[in-house]
Amino acid sequence: MTEPVRGGAAERAADSFFEDAHWEGVTRVCRGTSCQLAGAEGVIEARATLGDCRPVHCLGYCDRSPVALLADGRVATGDRAARAEPELADAALPDVRWLTKEPVVTARVAMGCHSPITRALDAGVWSTLPQFLARGPEAILAELVRSGERGRGGAGFATAVKWRACAAAEGEEKFVVANGDEGDPGSFVDRVLMQHDPHAVLEGLALCAFAVGARSGIVYVRGEYPAAAAALERAIEEARDHELLGPAVCGTDFGFDVRVVRGRGSYVCGEETALLNCVEGRRGEVRLRPPYPVTRGLHGRPTVVNNVETLVNVPAILSRGAGAWRALGTRASPGTKALCLNAGFARPGILEVGFGTRLRDVLEDAGAEGIEAVLMGGPLGSVVFEEDWDLPLCYAELAERGIHLGHGGLVALPADTDWREFVIRALDFARRESCGRCAPCRLGTERAFQAMQEPGDPREELEAIFEAMRHTSLCAFGQLIPGPLESVIQRHETRIFGP
Ligand SMILES: Cc1cc2nc3c(=O)[nH]c(=O)nc-3n(C[C@H](O)[C@H](O)[C@H](O)COP(=O)(O)O)c2cc1C
Ligand code: SF4
Repeated sequence: MTEPVRGGAAERAADSFFEDAHWEGVTRVCRGTSCQLAGAEGVIEARATLGDCRPVHCLGYCDRSPVALLADGRVATGDRAARAEPELADAALPDVRWLTKEPVVTARVAMGCHSPITRALDAGVWSTLPQFLARGPEAILAELVRSGERGRGGAGFATAVKWRACAAAEGEEKFVVANGDEGDPGSFVDRVLMQHDPHAVLEGLALCAFAVGARSGIVYVRGEYPAAAAALERAIEEARDHELLGPAVCGTDFGFDVRVVRGRGSYVCGEETALLNCVEGRRGEVRLRPPYPVTRGLHGRPTVVNNVETLVNVPAILSRGAGAWRALGTRASPGTKALCLNAGFARPGILEVGFGTRLRDVLEDAGAEGIEAVLMGGPLGSVVFEEDWDLPLCYAELAERGIHLGHGGLVALPADTDWREFVIRALDFARRESCGRCAPCRLGTERAFQAMQEPGDPREELEAIFEAMRHTSLCAFGQLIPGPLESVIQRHETRIFGP
């Protein structure tokens, strides 16, 4: 095997920024948190004997870890990941369950794939758009304000505020972007939605475009999701054939079209300004803000960037009405959230819950015996130990305890977790994925990783590095990376550093 010996951002700066540029046509083996815990290193070793193979951080099949994505696009999961001729596993859907009065975002997925378009139309996809084309952009914006919808990409930003700001921004040309980067190891619902319910993503994007006055849309799909990108490309063709996209959407004077842009292997390109740089063909570095994308986004034009799950929620909110949507969650966190449960749970899959559901109820449903903690929301999220399992899943209540829901990926951390290894792996991920734009993150992640390998006690140095990263990093990557590591270190100091 050719082991990628690429280091952190500083090393990558001397070469191409995008990891995929260095590794074309090779099998990718997942080394995300879930696969790591399920024996990814064994798969990497086994595949090394079969030829070239490259470890990547998350392929989006965390419910079936470990996972390999073959060069020809086939996916092999579980025991099959290490075999030379694995059977196809790509078509299999994760188990989809609900802890909510009514499932919304996963309802169709649970019934099977909603592509081709005939199936999507039968299930009611694309039926909200014509109604709101007749009612006008303000009807969409007003209903979204009433719904209290907050973006599902991690920050929980109010969707209506973003859309109104873009609608009000000056500019002849505007863009809307669906963020399908889903880099968080542990999350896979966006992959499932793009791959198995692509028309719902497109309808949400079209409603957004009509509301803000955009005529062009992009779905940015991470390079590790080739099947999702292909499903969306097929769906776009079908929607054009049905006049749901194109110069006269549904026979009106609203023109809107969409294209898919494939990512090339960078976690930070999920951050909206790095994503826009990537789409423009530049290095995927985070931009200084302000200005925000709603006023100066893609090619300097007003742009809305929304997460895939957020966009799939939009037609559901508009067709049900804001009141019905609010009834599914809490006052401050309306609606539902699709949580992803990794293979470490007895019942992995996707569990859609109403906001306000207790984490303990989620874990009981998932089967969490023998689990000491859960990694919630990926590397920028939180490690949640049992004393916090009675908290309701709501942005405000979690924030009061310093917990981040992120995109809702849950990875089971068993009682025998090697916590020192956990910290080292997380720092290795951080130094490799840092975009390098600001020094605290670029140098801090690299130095913290090295300090963990050197003899001596790194505790004081780590504390100082984490403090600097948290307070002086340019984006949430550097600001949030220290959080889960500090809570693990606080809990397991002796196991990590010795007595
Ligand atoms: C390092 C980093 C990675 C991110 N990755 C993603 C991602 O993969 N998908 C996503 O939707 N948002 C991601 N975000 C958040 C986006 O910047 C942005 O807030 C989001 O796409 C907005 O959509 P929403 O309002 O619907 O949540 C990331 C943020 C950071 C700082
Ligand atoms: S914190 Fe700085 S270096 Fe790290 S990803 Fe964000 S902008 Fe890039």
